[in-house]
Order: sequence, then structure tokens, then C-alpha cells
Amino acid sequence: MRLIVEPATALKGQARVPGDKSISHRAVMFASLAEGVSRVEGFLLGADCLRTVACMRALGVSVDLDGDAVVVHGVGLQGLQEPEDILDVGNSGTTIRLLLGLLAGQTFHCCLTGDESIRRRPMARAAKPLRSMGARIDGRKDGDLAPLSIRGGDLRSIKYQMPVASAQVKSAVLLAGLFASGVTGVKEPVPSRDHTERMLQALGAPLSRRSGFTEIGRPARLRPLDIRIPGDLSSAAFPLVAGLIVPGSEIVLEEVGVNPTRTGILDALGAMGARIAVEPREDQAGEPTARIVVRSLPLVGTRVAGAAIPRLIDEIPILAVAAAAAEGVTEIRDAAELRLKETDRIRTVAEELRKFGVRIAELEDGLIIEGGGPLKGAHCRSHGDHRIAMAMAVAGLAAEGETVVEGWEAADVSFPGFVDLLVSLGARVRIEED
Ligand code: S3P
Repeated sequence: MRLIVEPATALKGQARVPGDKSISHRAVMFASLAEGVSRVEGFLLGADCLRTVACMRALGVSVDLDGDAVVVHGVGLQGLQEPEDILDVGNSGTTIRLLLGLLAGQTFHCCLTGDESIRRRPMARAAKPLRSMGARIDGRKDGDLAPLSIRGGDLRSIKYQMPVASAQVKSAVLLAGLFASGVTGVKEPVPSRDHTERMLQALGAPLSRRSGFTEIGRPARLRPLDIRIPGDLSSAAFPLVAGLIVPGSEIVLEEVGVNPTRTGILDALGAMGARIAVEPREDQAGEPTARIVVRSLPLVGTRVAGAAIPRLIDEIPILAVAAAAAEGVTEIRDAAELRLKETDRIRTVAEELRKFGVRIAELEDGLIIEGGGPLKGAHCRSHGDHRIAMAMAVAGLAAEGETVVEGWEAADVSFPGFVDLLVSLGARVRIEED
């Protein structure tokens, strides 16, 4: 499947992006452990989150889909059942790493695998602390790569200092902590997204912060959820950057999650000269939300590094597109984690943006992008990575001549409806089947 993108003139309108991916995964997993029925509206019906639903069903949880709502019949902390087959997480890193934490607390045996990309991504970062809590985890390459096998149960608590900032690893340890004797603590070098902490607290888990550690004890039970998930800022970032770089645009995005651990992209675009109005709205699911209004504006290059990186790690492909359209040089450093995402995003961003005529240097831990030249329509590839697919589609909107994005089906991982949304804003984009 490929996307054909014609150059856009003025994108205008109001839109709603799908529910937050990180929160959607967590809502289904955590509600499965609660006692009672949870209702979760605004659930992201993308391929990744549907994998989480399938995995929880295979673990004996009844999950009903009702439009964009899911109803989860929680089985309680001790109610999961041994699955009859291998759990397949597809492309989803969040599913496999969070499930490892949850399964570390179960006495039964389970095997986990995923697609080609997942089978290349490191799992030892989550498996290592779980092993030291008492879980038996094995897999290819000395237990680092999926397929993985896990048998848990009888966990002891640990105090774990994480070598890299990762919300998935932090969440895996905290989930295992729900089943461990004593108080489990985890400390990150730099704060990562805190959706797990917010949601576990809302479910009644004993979670607190002490001397840099997030600590969790074993709860007697978890209560069910009744929430509406906010729109995903990581998805909103695509129309947002399109609105900035396609001249004459004005786009309004409603109900977008603006958790401060996720808003690095707004800060970086602000530093590039963007004026993005973030109008606070009511909290949803214990998360701040806002209406976001963006107008096109000439951008300038910037530098993004250090503690800012985890707050915009998933937005770097689209930030690179904004940088390509900006005057001057943009430098992105301390982002070696990008090499371990759905693709090596330092390499895939550089390779694909070069096709638009952008001068871009690949560093071990980042990118240097020389912006300002005209973008030339390109024939590019998603490499099976949803965020690369959508970032290149946005580059195509601001380019001269037609752009083609091969492997467009990848976009469904996090943003079903992306093409319809662009069309509703006036873009001329269409899908071509093979
Ligand atoms: C996520 C955490 C981040 C992020 C990923 C989703 C999560 O990964 O890149 O897309 O939902 O916890 P890391 O935990 O590897 O940093």
C-alpha cells in the first residue's frame, strides 16, 4: 500500500486525533487486573493497542469493543490464566515490555513474540530487573531478544536504578511490584512519561515518590476505571507540523493530552519560532488536556538535547521534518535511543529526508539538519515504521511535486484515520493499493 501526497496549499479546519497510545495500552492491561468492570472511552483502535487487547484476552480477560470504547471485565490481581499459545505483540514494544512486568507476577508459563522489528529490539533492559525480582525469563541472544519465555511468581521487591530513561522499563518494574513482597522502587536518570504512575494511583495502588525513587507496594485489590482517554499528542504532532510548514494554514486540534512528560515537541517547536496556542481543557483520565491551535509561520533551527529528549523521543521524525523546512541548522543530540525504536530512526529519518533534497548528517546519538532549501517531492519508504510513514507524508505536503510513501499500511499502528484527517483539512492525499 502506498500514499500519494500532492503539495498542499493552506490546510484549514478543526480535527480530533485518536486516543493516546501509551494510555490505551495501560488502560486495558491495568483494568484487567482490577476487580470489576472498567469502561474506557476514546481507546486507540490502532494495530498496537489491538494487540494488547488480544493478549489480555488470551490471558483469560474478557474485553468488549464498542465503537471507540473498550469494556474490560477485570479478573483481579490473581485472576489471569495461562495462555494456550504464544502471545504475539505484533509491532508493539509497549505491549511486550509491560506484559513482561505483569507476567513476572504470574506462576504460569508464557511465551511472547512479535514481528521482525520487535524481534530485533532489546528486551534485556526490562528482563534484567525482573529476573532480579525472581522471574525466570529466557530468549534468544542470552535472553535479550524475542521470542521470550517467562515464568514468574514469588517475587521479591528491589530498588532499581535504571541505566536509561524508559517508561516501558519503569512500568514493567512497577507492574511486577504489584505482585512482590515489600516495596519496589525504581529511579530513572531523566524522567520519562508517567502515565503508569498516574493510572496505578487512580486504581488505588499504593504508589509514592521518595528521594528520586517511585515506589509501589502490593495492593489488596485494584478498583476499576471509568475514563475517557485524551487525544495522542504524538499523533497530533503530525497535523501540527503540517499546519506550521504549509503556508496559509490554521489548524485546531481538540482534546489533546498535554501531560508535561510528553510536551517536549511543543517546547522545541516554540524554540523554532512557532506560536502554538495551548488552551487548557478539563483533565481526562487523570491527565491534563488542551485545545491546540496552530498557524503557519517561518521557523528557524534549534538544538534539542539532554533531559528534553525523553519528552519528545517519539516526535523526533516529525521534528526533523519541521527542521528541514526551517531556516538554519537544527541539532538533535543525546538521542541514541532512537536507534532502538520500531526502526533505527536516526538512519531511517536521514535516509528518507535526503530523498527530499535535505542536507542531513547522521550522528551516533542524533542528527544535524540543514533546513531552508526547497523540499523536492520524493519517492520514499516507511521501512514498516508508522512514524516514518507519517513524517514523510507531512514533508510531502510542503514539498514541490508529488511524494509517494511506500509501505503506508504501517501508519495504522498508531493513527488509523490519518489520511481522512488530512483530507478534512484540505490536503490532496490518496491511498493506492498494491
Ligand atoms: C512508551 C515509552 C517510550 C516510547 C514508546 C511508548 C510507553 O519508549 O518511545 O513509543 O508507552 O511507555 P521507551 O520506554 O523505550 O522509552
